[in-house]
Amino acid sequence: MKTRRSVLITGAASGIGRDTAIRFMEKGYRVTGCDVDGSGLKNLAVMAQENQWEFQLQILDMIRMDTFAQLYKQIEKEGKLDVLVNCAGICSGTELDEMSPGEWDRTFAVNLKGPFFLTQKLIPLLKEGDEPVIINVSSMAGFTGGIQSNPAYSCSKAAVTCMTKNLAKFCAPFGIRVNEVSPGTARTAMTKNWLGEEGLSEFVGRVPLGRLAEAADIAKVIIFLASEDAGFITGQSIHVNGGMYMP
Ligand SMILES: NC(=O)c1ccc[n+]([C@@H]2O[C@H](COP(=O)([O-])OP(=O)(O)OC[C@H]3O[C@@H](n4cnc5c(N)ncnc54)[C@H](O)[C@@H]3O)[C@@H](O)[C@H]2O)c1
Repeated sequence: MKTRRSVLITGAASGIGRDTAIRFMEKGYRVTGCDVDGSGLKNLAVMAQENQWEFQLQILDMIRMDTFAQLYKQIEKEGKLDVLVNCAGICSGTELDEMSPGEWDRTFAVNLKGPFFLTQKLIPLLKEGDEPVIINVSSMAGFTGGIQSNPAYSCSKAAVTCMTKNLAKFCAPFGIRVNEVSPGTARTAMTKNWLGEEGLSEFVGRVPLGRLAEAADIAKVIIFLASEDAGFITGQSIHVNGGMYMP
């Protein structure tokens, strides 16, 4: 009998990462939820305890790459790693002419550099995993240039898409599949803080399917990509946007 599958999810305290963590736990995965938001993680830990799900809380700042080695040791101690979901991300509403070098660097550090070096650190553990999978969360903005200005965000997410393909080629000989989900506009804390409820509602008219994405729409695709049903898919972007962008 196979042992329980394990997954590490960054950005697990909120939105898409949180919904994904819950779905993995419902499926019986051992989940390590990482985030810089400790109270959001604690909230998830309480839910896990109430449902007798296996959940490990890990405070992690994607910018603090010096802490990744410690995380590696902890996961190694617990056993194997089968799935890595790079979901943590930041996005502000800063217009192109107001973008500062500091915000540019921070956006790239959280959205791209951190996920790349965390993945690099964890690949040796994934090599030992069962049917191992890496899933990144990119964005429709990386394909379209963004729905509003936000240049650092869209550029960082375009680079995530390139990273997904690059990692897929590197990891294929080890049997590790690497894919990404590319969400359109989803109703989460990120977009509510940026656009507000009213601003978000304005986007509905631009979506052929007539509504914004919910975190669950994205999380369900992440779960599929982690499953054996997706066993011959690697290096791909799965667009989940209600028809808002058609490559
Ligand atoms: N909501 C959308 O419309 C949308 C669209 C496309 C892509 N995405 C992507 O989906 C992912 C999840 O976003 P969401 O919409 O669920 O937003 P969210 O704000 O609800 O969740 C993002 C999570 O990332 C965490 N995070 C931020 N900075 C971090 C850091 N330095 N270290 C560790 N964790 C950090 C936050 O604390 C939060 O829990 C992001 O990568 C985002 O870019 C979202």
